[in-house]
Amino acid sequence: MEIGVEIGVATAAYQIEGAVAEDGRVPSIWDTFSHTPGRTLDGDTGDVACDHYHRMPEDVALMADLGVDAYRFSIAWPRASNLDFYDRLVDALLERGIAPLPTLFHWDLPQSIEDEGGWLSRSTAERFAEYAGHVADRLGDRVRRWITLNEPFVHMAQGYALGTHAPGHALLLGALPVAHHQLLAHGLAVAALRERGATQVMITNNCSPVLPASDDDADLAAAAVYDAFQNRLFNDPVLLGEYPDFIAGALGDVVRDGDLAAIRAPLDALGINYYNPTRVGAPPDDADLPFDIRPIEGVPTTAFGWPVVPSGLRDLLVGLRDRYGAALPPIYITENGCSTEDGTADRFRIDFLDAHLRALDDAAAAGVDVRGYFVWSLLDNFEWAEGYSQRFGLVRVDFETGERTPKDSYRWLRDSIRSGRWRR
Ligand code: FCB
Repeated sequence: MEIGVEIGVATAAYQIEGAVAEDGRVPSIWDTFSHTPGRTLDGDTGDVACDHYHRMPEDVALMADLGVDAYRFSIAWPRASNLDFYDRLVDALLERGIAPLPTLFHWDLPQSIEDEGGWLSRSTAERFAEYAGHVADRLGDRVRRWITLNEPFVHMAQGYALGTHAPGHALLLGALPVAHHQLLAHGLAVAALRERGATQVMITNNCSPVLPASDDDADLAAAAVYDAFQNRLFNDPVLLGEYPDFIAGALGDVVRDGDLAAIRAPLDALGINYYNPTRVGAPPDDADLPFDIRPIEGVPTTAFGWPVVPSGLRDLLVGLRDRYGAALPPIYITENGCSTEDGTADRFRIDFLDAHLRALDDAAAAGVDVRGYFVWSLLDNFEWAEGYSQRFGLVRVDFETGERTPKDSYRWLRDSIRSGRWRR
């Protein structure tokens, strides 16, 4: 195996930090949502989470011992008035030779911005660009690469279309302006970051190869529609400067002159999060949505019930290369991982990661320019609506005491990095 990629781990602010009322942090939509009865499993909240805000040096030491090249974390927009924590984090990483890769938005919108319309409002895009510039003014002397948004598709779909994530709106196709405003935010932020010396800017999209439920025309058509929503809605505008046709029609005058040019700002890389393929068939007659998601049979599933299909990663990357050709920049897998039963004996995760790294190697052998691979996640953490029930960490966290215990997969990854398996 000779792919030679940067190896890292990924986390997100609300999922690990805790300290939600400290040092000037303002409430976010996830504070509101998780404190609303019935929204998260067992009423779990991120109030304390992994207490990473106070245990950061210990967590950086865990990463250093693991031997990763890079750390993908997110900056909490609700902490914009006091970025001291991220200043210390970046210094701690650089001291250990770990490259920081911050994401500017991983779903924790300040509640005050949601109160003014959140991502349904165009002004949120402009405010995001200001915030991006403000963060780069503080960290840009040491951080030159950035991810603007994490999975704008999931944020739109779960947060605004289905209501299963914060802010909890169930607008179905009425959520589409959220796509455009996030994309505009991305484009405006790229400009703000470049002005401040950024050398590598990317967006992270959550993509999934779509498997039609059958060869029937209705299933094929529904699969193409789903593919447009999950895989093209956030890649076509960024890479090609256009929306898939029927989505452009539905967006109407939400899109203003000049927006697509801003959104198409050249990128240095594309972040891809891969978890599993999606099987799609035609919807029943009375359905609200133009597609129907079906189970994938006959493959293992994670503790979350997600199908394990490592070859889907290769298929996804080769498919992106075929679709976008020369417009596709180099790719970083910015998240890949699985939840397992609680405990430190996680052979399942070792097999999962090993198989997906092999699939990445296959994609590279097929000519896809892959530069990095980030495991989701360093720590067991707050898995959004599932609370603490889904454990994705290389390191176990005891949520009563905060104690960290490396799992077998942590040792496997450390040994595999040390062996030079992923070096160029
Ligand atoms: C992704 C999210 C990440 C985490 C993983 C399991 O969709 O970006 O925060 O929840 O799924």
